[in-house]
Amino acid sequence: MTKITVSAPGKVALFGEHAVVYGQPALVAAIDKRLYVSIEGRSDSLIKIHAMDLKIPGVVLTIGRSETDMAIETDFERIIDAVSYIKKAVDVASAYCGSMKGVNIHIKSEMPVGAGLGTSAAVSVATIMAYAEAAGHHLTEAEISSLGHKVESEVQGTASPMDTAVSTYGGLLLVRPSIGKTVMTSVKAGADLPLVVGYTPRECGTGEMLRRVRRLKESAPESVESILSAIGKVVSEAEAALTNGELRKLGTLMDINHGLLESIGVSTKKISEMVYSARSAGALGSKLTGAGGGGCTISLCPGKEQSVMTAISVVGCTSFKSSIARKGVTLECTE
Ligand code: MEV
Repeated sequence: MTKITVSAPGKVALFGEHAVVYGQPALVAAIDKRLYVSIEGRSDSLIKIHAMDLKIPGVVLTIGRSETDMAIETDFERIIDAVSYIKKAVDVASAYCGSMKGVNIHIKSEMPVGAGLGTSAAVSVATIMAYAEAAGHHLTEAEISSLGHKVESEVQGTASPMDTAVSTYGGLLLVRPSIGKTVMTSVKAGADLPLVVGYTPRECGTGEMLRRVRRLKESAPESVESILSAIGKVVSEAEAALTNGELRKLGTLMDINHGLLESIGVSTKKISEMVYSARSAGALGSKLTGAGGGGCTISLCPGKEQSVMTAISVVGCTSFKSSIARKGVTLECTE
């Protein structure tokens, strides 16, 4: 039987996370770390998922087609999370393209899963495309992005379309929420953005971080609203600096954005340690990326990548070099 392998990139929020939930713009970028999904048909009707390299302990799970048929007893919460997205993506793709019998699905990730690097979006869009290809359908990028967003929304209850869009199209996107829809435009960077991504395990998930910001905004509405609109202004200045290739200014804006995120309580001691040590090691700017509560930082550090990575390891965290990826979701091979 034909085996289809599709890859999709992870992402970083360069600027504007959290404020985007309240209508401010944000800048997101696909990164050169990818997640791979391979799908082949089975003669029975089972969906068998091999999640062997998610940069967390791997397992093999066999689950049936019905909602209630996913009884998994394990401590590996993040694996269960990843599996929920895969199963939903198979359901959504089969409803859209017509059902196949069972499938074997293999997943591999070049980045940690559940760390705020958009792996749930990457696994959703890659599974949608791989399943559709295996069923003989060539979906457009717009179809993949929108079906991927449906998967994230149904699993999480709510989701902004930016992660699935950037994983589908690749590159850099300016996201502008407006009533009833989100407008996303591609942005061309005037220079390379050599980044170091720092990582520390998350203390709580995106949903909880979003709730915390909402509670803070309810308790101090004027202050929090002015912080969120200041983040929006940082994004506008960053878009101009990005297109003009002004890396120093971008670094300064990253530092400002981080300060504003600290002020709404989404950083942690470890995240701040990474940010401050990266700056001391020569980064032009450093900030948390994504929802916070642990997870990842990004540091803009042309020529200083090695010292920044060493500085991050000194505070007990891991890191990797990364850059912006033009390539979005991609059919890798058909065997
Ligand atoms: C996560 O990358 C960014 C948040 O703003 C959540 C979202 O926009 O969906 C925290």
